[in-house]
Amino acid sequence: VREIPSKFNIDSKSMEESPFLKALGKEPTRRIPVWYMRQAGRSLPEYREAKKNVNILDVLKNPDLTAELTLQPVRRYLVDAAILFSDIMAPFDSEALGLSIVKDKGPVITRPLSNIKDIASISHLGFDYQQYTTEAVKILNSELKVPLIGFVGGPFTIACYLIDSKPSQKWVKTLNLLRESPELFFKILKVLSATLSQAIEIQVNAGVSCMQIFDSWAGILDKESFIKYCQPAIKTLVKKARVPVIYFGLNTGHFLPILPDCGVKGIGIDWRISIDKAFSVTAHRVAVQGNLNPLHLLDPIEEMLAAAELVLKQGSKYDGFIFNLGHGILPETDPENIKRLTDFVHDYKRPA
Ligand code: CP3
Repeated sequence: VREIPSKFNIDSKSMEESPFLKALGKEPTRRIPVWYMRQAGRSLPEYREAKKNVNILDVLKNPDLTAELTLQPVRRYLVDAAILFSDIMAPFDSEALGLSIVKDKGPVITRPLSNIKDIASISHLGFDYQQYTTEAVKILNSELKVPLIGFVGGPFTIACYLIDSKPSQKWVKTLNLLRESPELFFKILKVLSATLSQAIEIQVNAGVSCMQIFDSWAGILDKESFIKYCQPAIKTLVKKARVPVIYFGLNTGHFLPILPDCGVKGIGIDWRISIDKAFSVTAHRVAVQGNLNPLHLLDPIEEMLAAAELVLKQGSKYDGFIFNLGHGILPETDPENIKRLTDFVHDYKRPA
């Protein structure tokens, strides 16, 4: 039996007990909840040890190992939530698309989307997704004492990988398809949102407490395109979820005010917009999660904590603030810094 220490609660998985879920519901909490995007993974020596050189897509087919990798950061840092170890591309691991996840690079697609005939390849979930995901969530629910966050990629971000076929900065093929064939693009997002809805349903039925939509690249769109292509897709996903949903993206300041109307309960923001501004432009209708630049975790500890304090000074004023980074933990981060940061957030006193 794997022991999960909990400094604060015997069991804080329930809505009544979990500071994370309470903050997501904009209820007051004594201490500020914290978890980190990409908290599981390459910054942890026990991750490298357990995963060996197995490719992530093969790791996922082993639910016991998936559960172990999910639990590692919870044990080490005592964060307020676990996030299922998976990848946004896992639901698209199919023969039709030819997905691989290349070390130090990311998702690569052998047969990218380019025309209407390709739609069939994205209309169903990939290899064994339902079975291994359900199994991993069930194992985790029996072992965790904090809530488990499930996740999917945002439909636009998934479209970027499927159309451009590999990680990019500018996503030129994707943006060209949007300009040249807006109807096809709309259809792609619609079909993706249906498939992602199935992935959400599987995770929720298996028992996750909350869902995060990682729409990392949607911020490259102008507001009008976001409204036209992403908003309907996000609404579809939120409706399907039946649990609270957090929407995260980089560079999303220009469309944050639209997100509460999509039904999300929380927004994850990066360091380009302040916590105060995020609360004010959404009229305090949703929780705000973020937004320390992950580069600060590479600083000496005192400098890192000074940067974190600037975030906490703003966030601690509000019910509905969840401390996180503005993007995922970088692989070269020292776990000791993450531990110190977590303790610092937990010890931080809210203003009287
Ligand atoms: O947060 C967690 O700890 C859960 C695990 C998780 C992974 N990917 C595991 C992973 C989560 C939440 C993701 C989300 C994800 N994946 C996003 C959204 C967040 C973001 O970073 O913007 C994106 C864009 C991807 C796509 C992806 N997967 C990329 C670009 C890469 C390569 C670069 C990288 O970050 O490693 C991956 C591979 C990947 N996903 C790894 C892990 C642990 C590394 C593969 C390995 O260790 O073999």
